[in-house]
Formats: sequence, structure tokens, C-alpha cells
Amino acid sequence: MRYALIGCGRIAPSHIKAARDNGFAIAAVCDIRGDHIDELFARCGLPPEEAASIRRYADYREMVRAEKPDLVSIALPSLLHAEAALFVIGEGVNVIIEKPIAMSMAEADAIVAAADRTGVTVSACHQNRFNQAVQEMRAALEGGRFGKLSHGAVTVRWSRGQAYYQQADWRGKWASDGGALMNQCIHGIDLLRWMCGDELVSVYGVTRRALHGYIQAEDVGTAVLTFANGVIATVEGTVNLADEDLEEHLSLFGENGSVKLGGTSANAIDYWHFKDAPEESKDGFHEKTLNVYGNGHTSLFRDVADAITEHRPPYVDARAGRRALETVLAIYQSSFTGKPVTLPLGEVASRDFEGFFDK
Ligand SMILES: NC(=O)c1ccc[n+]([C@@H]2O[C@H](COP(=O)([O-])OP(=O)(O)OC[C@H]3O[C@@H](n4cnc5c(N)ncnc54)[C@H](O)[C@@H]3O)[C@@H](O)[C@H]2O)c1
Repeated sequence: MRYALIGCGRIAPSHIKAARDNGFAIAAVCDIRGDHIDELFARCGLPPEEAASIRRYADYREMVRAEKPDLVSIALPSLLHAEAALFVIGEGVNVIIEKPIAMSMAEADAIVAAADRTGVTVSACHQNRFNQAVQEMRAALEGGRFGKLSHGAVTVRWSRGQAYYQQADWRGKWASDGGALMNQCIHGIDLLRWMCGDELVSVYGVTRRALHGYIQAEDVGTAVLTFANGVIATVEGTVNLADEDLEEHLSLFGENGSVKLGGTSANAIDYWHFKDAPEESKDGFHEKTLNVYGNGHTSLFRDVADAITEHRPPYVDARAGRRALETVLAIYQSSFTGKPVTLPLGEVASRDFEGFFDK
């Protein structure tokens, strides 16, 4: 698998690690900042001869056309995802797009349509779906062990301070990033929607910029989701914790089973109980991770490579990325209007909420 990376910033080491773990040939990387490429190679501990063999570009269009890789991953600032993804897909190259896959429904729709039209493999980088604890919950759900579902919940209680937002100009702004829900909590929101049945019918959201006056978008948000199958769910997401990330919890409750995942990124099992096997205990399971990004990039990259060779859809496809984006934008829209929002959402973009907290 000849692989190339677009965007060599904070998350890029997880992409390079995933490519190397899977034995991909890293043909090239691209960043407008050459020093970021140097830093990436240093952070990944690439041996000098391996680093020297990777071609470097400042223009991703030039890179994709010259290198013709089998697979590209996009780790650009969120505002640039859709434009880059549409270019890569247009060149007939398979692509993994970091979350959120776009900043507007129109862009997400264009990505889904381009994937369908071309048959190119397009995956949204919601890598936490591959967390071992999440996979356990999913297997129980698909095995029918929960019975009729009652409700679900996600809580993402993390800490991001001024130094984090000052790292790059795009962070915390409506048009280019969004706030805590769009950036940090979208993984948990993706998991919640996936577990509760995907078909979301209404969203009531309340968001605030409570403690981070220097960003544009929300630093805390809550929401109630209602699904077509009758399941209800709650979201609580924030970057307002003092100094340290506390937890990312995901709970799912049904007539025959109760599961609560924990850890800092839904990488642990806090509570596991099913009527069909009350003695079965998974409580205390904890997948070790180096950071809140977890180990899922390696599994997601493996799945995408297999999807390409097996001519099947990837485990996390473009529609999954679109659904996660739609959920966050629906929460924004509801908070903005003060009313529940009925889905499908229509043409909403994160930039529509510019100035919301400045009134
Ligand atoms: N999946 C995850 O867990 C996870 C974690 C962190 C970030 N992300 C997502 O990954 C994306 C990148 O986040 P980050 O924290 O690494 O950001 P970052 O700002 O650290 O890195 C972005 C990089 O893109 C480069 N860049 C900007 N414009 C470019 C252009 N036109 N062409 C080429 N390079 C360009 C920048 O120089 C920078 O090196 C974001 O969308 C973010 O939401 C995902």
C-alpha cells in the first residue's frame, strides 16, 4: 500500500504510526510548513534513512498527482478537509479524512456523493470505534444481548486551555474548527449515534462559551437526542475541566443489559452486566493508550487497506462521518434557535453560528 499524508501537525504522528504498524510504504508527506515535517519525523523517531526516503511537498495537489499513492490520509485543519478530500477522490485515490470530515452539510454531502460516484474508498477517522471496549459493547449490541434499548449517554470531560488554542490560528473558530463538541466530543457523539441506531429524528441542544472567552465557539454543550427507534440519549461535552482530562464515558442501557464504558476516551469498561450471563464480568478492563487519541488509528488504517483490496466498504465510511457532523451541527442549530431541531438537517454550516456568543 503506497501511502501519503496531508498535514503534519499534532495528530500526524498517529497517522505515521498507523501506516508503519500496517507495513504501508510511506511515499510522501505534505505540509505548507517544512519545519512541521521535520518535527513530525523527529516525534515519530524515524530512522534517518527512512525519513530521507519520504518525499516532501508543500502542495498536496502536486503530491497526489506526482506520487499517485494508493491511499492518502488528510490531517489538515478541519476547514480544509472537504476541499482536499474532494480533490483526492477526484484523482481516484482512496482517502481517510480526519474528523470532522467537513464543516458544513453541503460539503459532507459532496464527499458522500463523490465516494458513491467514483467507487473510491473514503473513510472518516472515527478511530475510537476500534477501541477494544467499544468493540465489546458493539458485539453485545449486534448479538442482540441488550434486548430492547432504553437509552444511551456520552460524557466527554476534558481540559483544553489557552496554550492549546494558541497552537494554531484555526482552533476554536466557528468556520475552521467549531468548539468542544465539534472537535473534542465528536468521537463520543459518533459512538453514541452508532450504538443508538443511527436514525436520529430530533435534537435539543444547549451550548455555552463558559470559560474560554478567547475562542469563538462553545466550550461546553449538552443535548438530548431522540432516535427513530424510540431510543433517547444525552450528550455532555466540555473542555472546561481544570488542568486535566477526566473521562469519556459511553453508556448503553437495554431491557437485558447495562454497559458503561470509561477511561479518558471510552477505552475501559466500568460496568458490564447482562441478564443472559450475570456471572460474566468485564468490569475493570482497561486498554492502555499513550494519549486520548487511543490506539484506533492503526486498526482503522488496517481496515481501510483491507476494504480497498477486498472491494468492500470501510468499517467507518463517509456516511458515518456525515452523521457525526450532522449531529454536532444539529446541536449548534438547536442551541442557536432555542428550539429542538428535526432531522434531516438541511444546509447548515458551522460558520452560520459566527458571533453567537458575542451578542
Ligand atoms: N482523530 C483524532 O483523534 C484527532 C485528534 C486530533 C486532531 N484531529 C483532527 O485532525 C485535524 C488536524 O488537527 P491537528 O491538531 O493535527 O492540527 P495542526 O494544526 O496541529 O496540524 C495541521 C497541519 O496542517 C498544515 N497545513 C495547514 N494548511 C495546509 C495546506 N493548505 N496544505 C498542507 N498543509 C497544511 C499545518 O501547517 C499543520 O502542520 C483536525 O481536523 C482535527 O480535528 C483528530
